[in-house]
Amino acid sequence: EKGGYPHFMLKEIYEQPSTLVDCIRGRINPDTCEVKLSGVIDHREKFVNARRIIFVACGTSWHASLIGEHLIESICRIPVEVEYASEFRYRNPIIREDDIVIAVSQSGETADTLAAVELARKAGAFVFGICNVVGSSIARATDSGAYIHVGPEIGVASTKAFTGQVTVMAMLALAVGRERETVSDAYYHEVSSALLYLPETLEEVLKVAPQVADLAKIFTYAHNFIYLGRGYNYPTALEGALKLKEISYIHAEGYPAAEMKHGPIALIDAEMPTVAIATPDHTYEKTASNIEEIRARGGKIIAVIARDDRQVRRSADYVIEVPVIAECLMPIVVSVPLQLLAYYIAVYKGRNVDQPRNLAKSVTVE
Ligand code: F6R
Repeated sequence: EKGGYPHFMLKEIYEQPSTLVDCIRGRINPDTCEVKLSGVIDHREKFVNARRIIFVACGTSWHASLIGEHLIESICRIPVEVEYASEFRYRNPIIREDDIVIAVSQSGETADTLAAVELARKAGAFVFGICNVVGSSIARATDSGAYIHVGPEIGVASTKAFTGQVTVMAMLALAVGRERETVSDAYYHEVSSALLYLPETLEEVLKVAPQVADLAKIFTYAHNFIYLGRGYNYPTALEGALKLKEISYIHAEGYPAAEMKHGPIALIDAEMPTVAIATPDHTYEKTASNIEEIRARGGKIIAVIARDDRQVRRSADYVIEVPVIAECLMPIVVSVPLQLLAYYIAVYKGRNVDQPRNLAKSVTVE
C-alpha cells in the first residue's frame, strides 16, 4: 500500500508529478492552453462581479490560500482576504452578498472550516470549495467548487494536497482573470503552459532528494530553524516551517525575509540555521541582501536557488537547486525540497513520520 516507500509521506511526495496530472486533466487544453473550470463556468457572473474574495482555511490549506490571495489579486484584480477559519467564525465578520468565500480543505471535514462555510452561506455569500475528498462535508456544504483530485492523502503532514491546492488556485485565477479581462494573453499563456509542464518540472525537482537527505543529516542537531521567503514564496516559507515542526518536533518559524531586521534577526547565531528561498523573482536582490545580513551574524544558510544562480550561492553554506518556471508557480516547485528536508530530518531523528504525536489527519473537533 505504500508502493515500496518506507512511509506514506515519502510516497505522497514522490506522487506529486502524477497527482498534478490528475489535478490538471480536462481543465487545461494542451493544444490551446485554455483553462476551463466548470465551477467557474457555471457561476461566471458571480466571479466576474465579485467585490471581494475571502479564503477560509486552517494549517497547510491556509498557507495555500495565502498563495491564492497573491494569484487572484494579481491576475483577477479582486481584493482578497485570507482568514483562519477558527478566527473568522468567532469574529462576527463582515460578509456581503457580492463576496465569494472560498473554503480550502484537503479532508473537507475540518470543523472550523465547515462552520465558516455555514456562516458565510447564512450571510448570503457565494461559497466555493477547494477540497480533495469527494463528497466530504465541506464539498457538500458549498455552492460550487473544484476538487484538487490528488487521491487519498494518508500521511498526516499534508504534501500533495498543498501542491494540488495551489495548482487549482492558479487555474481558478486564470479562468476568472480571463472572464474579467484582467490578464494579458501573454501572461495567461505563460502560466497555463507552465501548469501543463508542472508534472515534468516536478520530476526534475525530485532529483534533489539524495542531496536533501545528505543535508538533513547535518541539521538534525538544530533545535530551531528559520524559513525565509518573499512574495509568492513567503507562504512557502511558512509551509516549510510547518512541515518541519509537525514531523520532526523541531521549532521552526517562517518569516517574510525583510521582517528579520524588525526583531527575529536577534535569534541568529551559529545554532540557528536558516532556510532561505531565493529563486529569481522581482525581489531577488532584496532577498540576497537579507541573506547577507544573516550570514554576517554567523547564521548557517541553506538556500533554495536556481541552477544558474551566482550571487546567493556565494553567501549560502549549502544550496538546493531547483528549475525555474513562472514566478507565481514557484511555490509548487520550492515546496517539494522543503517537504523532503522535513521528511529526512524527521526520519534521521527517529520520528514517527506518518503519525506525528498529538496530531490527527482531520480535525473534526474544534
Ligand atoms: C499540516 C496539516 C494540517 C491541515 C489542517 C487543515 O500538514 O495537514 O495543518 O492542513 O488541519 O486540514 P484540511 O485541509 O483537511 O482542512
